[in-house]
Order: sequence, then structure tokens, then C-alpha cells
Amino acid sequence: NLPRRVKLIDVGPRDGLQNEKQPVPAAVKVELVHRLQDAGLNEIEVTSFVSPKWVPQMADNAEVMAGIHRQPDVRYSVLTPNLQGFEAALKTKPDEIVVFGAASEAFSQKNINCSIEESIERFAPVVKAARDAGIAVRGAMSCTVGCPYEGEIAPERVGYLAGLMKSIGIQRVDVADTIGVGTPRKVQAAIEATLRHYALNDVSGHFHDTYGQALVNTLAALQVGVWNFQSSVAGLGGCPYAKGATGNVATEDVVYMLQGMGIETGIHLDKLIDAGVFISNALGRQPNSLVSRAVLNK
Ligand code: HMG
Ligand code: MG
Repeated sequence: NLPRRVKLIDVGPRDGLQNEKQPVPAAVKVELVHRLQDAGLNEIEVTSFVSPKWVPQMADNAEVMAGIHRQPDVRYSVLTPNLQGFEAALKTKPDEIVVFGAASEAFSQKNINCSIEESIERFAPVVKAARDAGIAVRGAMSCTVGCPYEGEIAPERVGYLAGLMKSIGIQRVDVADTIGVGTPRKVQAAIEATLRHYALNDVSGHFHDTYGQALVNTLAALQVGVWNFQSSVAGLGGCPYAKGATGNVATEDVVYMLQGMGIETGIHLDKLIDAGVFISNALGRQPNSLVSRAVLNK
């Protein structure tokens, strides 16, 4: 009894592109968002309102948000680590903001320059301001199975973070395997720890494919009932604060697997592959999706 339907959030424009060394023009990012929504994605993580000194690639956040021709049925989300980011984001009218914390202390320090508890103190007013403005709030939980600095992360620490996020009113959370070290049972344990605080409908899986485990981890998450996932068109990505971490699982590969299993996604694989080719061409490389390569080489 796997879920019959899956919702995919494409994080390519944000998680995928944030680590690119060469500046990607805002117009290319906007075109990518347009192609993703044309392919049937109805949740897209567009950009982040973080310090441009930390993540220069996302400095054009407001320009990208302003350039999108919005579809009424699409949810556009942006990352906001603090009130300064939220206030800038608010002007661009996102449907959802994402605060991002970590199950690992060391990663919290490297990524957002504060401890886990301090991060919750920073998020609390952001969550309140967003909820007051009628904007949905998601919480990304990084390093839920492993951390580049601390190694393996126990499920209890994921549960602890999920509980803190719940206590400040974050509506739903992502269980992220930031560096892609997870394997099915470990991912299930991280999800189960999260489910002590959040309902199944409010938990999503966010798997990076560094060790080639992201699809099996997706299946493992489906087996415990999770039906929301983040993925990245053309497998774009990597994290600036997680050395060696590769991209998110490719949306094309997830869609192919789900279609083959008879699970509905609402996504047109051909159009999605085209979107992946578009952005890969813009970056001067091949799509990092085996499904895309197989289809294109047929
Ligand atoms: P900080 O230095 O501690 O912040 O950084 P601060 O409040 O002390 O401010 C220092 C300077 O930053 C000031 O500028 C602020 O104005 C500016 P200055 O006076 O020096 O010129 N500043 C900002 N500028 C623009 N927007 C803002 C903002 N805040 C402060 N929002 C901060 C703290 C969080 C800002 C910083 O650490 C940061 O920007 N980090 C970036 C983290 C990031 O984007 N990481 C990648 C995304 S997370 C991820 O990819 C994981 C995920 O995919 C899930 C997974 O896979 O695990 C979500
Ligand atoms: Mg990520």
C-alpha cells in the first residue's frame, strides 16, 4: 500500500543552482521555472534570500521572483534564514518560505553561522511574521542521516530538531540527506523520528544522490507513507557548505520510477527532460539524470 499519488517540489532553481561558480543569468533561471511549471511541477523552490556574500549565485533573488509569470496552481517557495531575508522575500510575494536548520550542530554553524537553538530563536519571529502575512512555512532539516563534519547522525537528533520546529509553528518539514550518505533503513529511521512530531502529510523527503542511494531512499520513504519529495531537474546541485555533496536526485529519474510503479505525479516526463536539457545546455554540461540520457540516446 504505497501512496497512489506523489507531489514533487523541484528545487533545481535554488538547491540546484546555488552552488554554480559561474553566474547564471536571472533570465535563464526564470526560463527554467517556466519550463518546470509547463512540465506540470506545481511546487517550485525558486531562490533564497540569504547573504550574497555567502551565496553569490542567489543575489538576483528579487529579479528572478519578479520575472516569473505565475500560474495560479503553482506554489513558489523561497529560503529565508532570518528576518532580514524574510522582509526582502515578502516584497516578492512568495507562497511559502523555507527556514533551514540542521540536525547537526557543526553543520548549523557552518551553514547559517549559529547553533541549533539559536537558529530556532531566529526562525521563530520569521515563522510568526510569515504566518501573520498568510504565507506557508516549511522547515528544511539538513544532515538527518549524516553530517560532513560530525559523521553519522542519530535519529533522536532529528526528532529533537523536528520537535523544536513544531514548537515554533513550522507547518511542514523536509527530512534532508544533505550529503547523500543515507541508506534505506537509516532514512526510514530519520523519517520515523520526524513522524513523532509531524503528520505524514507534512513530511517530505529530500535526498541527494552522492552515493547513488537517492532513488532507493525515495522508495524506502514511500514505504513508510511519505508522498512529498524534493528533487532537482537534471540532478542539478550540491551544497556550498557540504564539500563533495552532489545534486539532489534528478526529478526525471524520480518521475520515471513513479510512473513505472503506477504512482501519479501530474508531470510530463518529455517536457521535464526538455527543461533539464535547457538548463544543462546553459551550464555547458550533460543532464545529470540517467533517465534523461537514456531517452535522449534512444
Ligand atoms: P551572519 O553573518 O551570521 O549574519 O550570516 P549577520 O546577521 O551577522 O549579518 C552579516 C551580514 O550579512 C550583514 O551584512 C547582513 O546585512 C547580511 P554586512 O553588514 O556585513 O554588509 N545578511 C543578509 N544579507 C542578505 N540576506 C539576508 C541576510 N542576513 C544577513 N537574509 C546568514 C547568517 C544565515 C545570513 C548566512 O550564514 C547565510 O546567508 N548563509 C547562507 C546559507 C545558505 O544559503 N546555505 C545553502 C542553503 S541550505 C541547503 O542547501 C540545504 C537544503 O537544501 C536541505 C539539505 O539538502 O540539507 C535546504
Ligand atoms: Mg539540499
